[in-house]
Amino acid sequence: MRRIHVIGIGAGDPDQLTLQAVKALRDTEVFFILDKGEVKADLVRLRRDILGAHLPEGTYRTVEARDPERDRTAEGAGYSPAVGEWRSARAGVIERLIAEELGEDGTGAFLVWGDPSLYDSTLGVLEEILERGAVAFAYDVVPGISSVSSLAARHRTGLNRVARPVQITTGRRLAEGLPEGVDDVVVMLDAHQTFQRYADSGEDIDIYWGAYLGTPDEILASGPLAETAPRIVALRAEARARKGWIMDTYLLRRRRPGDDGGPGDDGTPGDKGGPGDECGPGSG
Ligand SMILES: C[S@@+](CC[C@H](N)C(=O)[O-])C[C@H]1O[C@@H](n2cnc3c(N)ncnc32)[C@H](O)[C@@H]1O
Repeated sequence: MRRIHVIGIGAGDPDQLTLQAVKALRDTEVFFILDKGEVKADLVRLRRDILGAHLPEGTYRTVEARDPERDRTAEGAGYSPAVGEWRSARAGVIERLIAEELGEDGTGAFLVWGDPSLYDSTLGVLEEILERGAVAFAYDVVPGISSVSSLAARHRTGLNRVARPVQITTGRRLAEGLPEGVDDVVVMLDAHQTFQRYADSGEDIDIYWGAYLGTPDEILASGPLAETAPRIVALRAEARARKGWIMDTYLLRRRRPGDDGGPGDDGTPGDKGGPGDECGPGSG
């Protein structure tokens, strides 16, 4: 039976690979790499560097394919069907790769950015391929360090406050409003800097923002949203122009009267100094 490892590789820093991930790499003969086009060439390179750093040359193969294009014009009710169609197109490409490139008892792997459980289609695509029934395999999942964990670590803050919930969502969802009953919201996949909508809301909100986390280009900014939002917009525009693409994530933290400002899940002291630190672009 063919076997497949779905390996979370962290969100940019090669040192974020876990020992379990390294073991899974060493157990793999064929790595499937989907190229998302020039803009993401850096990310493909990072995957190659990870393999080079942990595996002796000549002990594995990489197989590349072009990721199908997604219809990025689809909005509103058309958004989910467009994502569904793209996922099926991806399933077609990957099904062919597995059938053609992996022997009946071979072991392959997908290196997934961050953690496979967060906003990633690999697990859904593999399930779709198994449902189609044309190719059979067993698969397992190795967790990775998500960009969300990286963001919290770099800002030295928790994601939730004492006994309170935290929500992870997308820029698209945030555009519909801040969620009810949740004061800590992590936002991913936001090409439109949706945080700006809440900068003048009159609510007491802090932002903890990070771009290219874990890479030499990492940029961090944090502080009260009203005054930090324009700074992030400027940092983001400059970085995007320089590199041609950007990946950023942020935590919005709504303050309520009586909050001590510190995160924690058990009463341990948090980031007492509050937000306000900022690092410029790194050496890369
Ligand atoms: C398709 S999702 C994949 C998330 C990934 N599975 C994870 O666990 O981080 C891509 C989004 O993750 C966030 N992201 C991933 N890597 C990042 C990084 N190094 N720095 C900042 N944000 C990152 C961005 O919000 C980006 O739009």
